[in-house]
Amino acid sequence: MKLKNKVAVVTGGNSGIGFGIAAAFKNEGAIGTITGRNQETLDRSVAALGAGFVGIQADVTNMDDLERIFRETFDRFGKIDTLVVNAGGIVDGSPMAGIAEVTEDNYDKYMDLNLKSVYFTVQKALPYLHDGASIILIGSSAAHRAAPGMTVYSAAKAAVVSLAKGLSLDLLARKIRVNTLSPGSIDTPVFGKIVPQEQVEQVKQIWKDLTPLGRLGLPSDLGKAAAFLASDDSSFLLATEILADGGLTNIIQMK
Ligand SMILES: NC(=O)c1ccc[n+]([C@@H]2O[C@H](COP(=O)([O-])OP(=O)(O)OC[C@H]3O[C@@H](n4cnc5c(N)ncnc54)[C@H](OP(=O)(O)O)[C@@H]3O)[C@@H](O)[C@H]2O)c1
Repeated sequence: MKLKNKVAVVTGGNSGIGFGIAAAFKNEGAIGTITGRNQETLDRSVAALGAGFVGIQADVTNMDDLERIFRETFDRFGKIDTLVVNAGGIVDGSPMAGIAEVTEDNYDKYMDLNLKSVYFTVQKALPYLHDGASIILIGSSAAHRAAPGMTVYSAAKAAVVSLAKGLSLDLLARKIRVNTLSPGSIDTPVFGKIVPQEQVEQVKQIWKDLTPLGRLGLPSDLGKAAAFLASDDSSFLLATEILADGGLTNIIQMK
């Protein structure tokens, strides 16, 4: 029970990695809020988490929505100890692409979702976070290793790694720790947003083969790492990054 009675906010907690993190937090004794735009998956996820968690429907690219997440969480629980800035990834109706196809609109939308929203999620949370809180930014191994079609997304995630450093400095007086948790290839609904359903298994296999541990990560793998970063066990980790990627970034395998 590393997180007993801690209050957490997990953006994008209604799917994939975010849900895995919320479930791990719940197992460690936390309560709090998950957010997402899709009310149906939000309701289902809150029901699966059980007592202690509430859902707030919100778009993280909307400043009023961001402010509302933290105000309502504070009103409901009286404090916020941990923030996981997880919402992000694929922009609906705007596929990732190579430079020949990326339009200004596509570029802006990826940066808005994967970088700007991260910065302002933290900013809007600040009045409600107590001193000594832990903020976890979800980065990506893509910040360190280029992959086809992922240039803009990868650049946004590389900037997220940088944000953890600058924001830790900005918040030093309040002893708020900001760290990045960077997943490798994780088995979530994201694959179905990148390729048609009939190609999902094939693409997953490509990423499995690329990952030295020979499997995709699970949302629960990220949950355990996030629980560590949220807890006092990580009290001396500040402005750093944990790669939870099965070796994808740091090892080249010769098969
Ligand atoms: N899966 C991987 O292999 C992988 C690898 C590296 C990094 N990541 C990162 O991990 C995070 C979670 O990804 P995932 O794989 O779990 O993907 P996912 O299952 O597609 O989940 C994405 C989450 O973000 C939320 N979201 C997206 N746009 C939003 C918006 N405008 N406003 C509010 N919420 C929004 C979605 O909820 P709604 O649709 O309901 O809004 C959903 O909860 C992302 O930051 C992603 O970049 C994933």
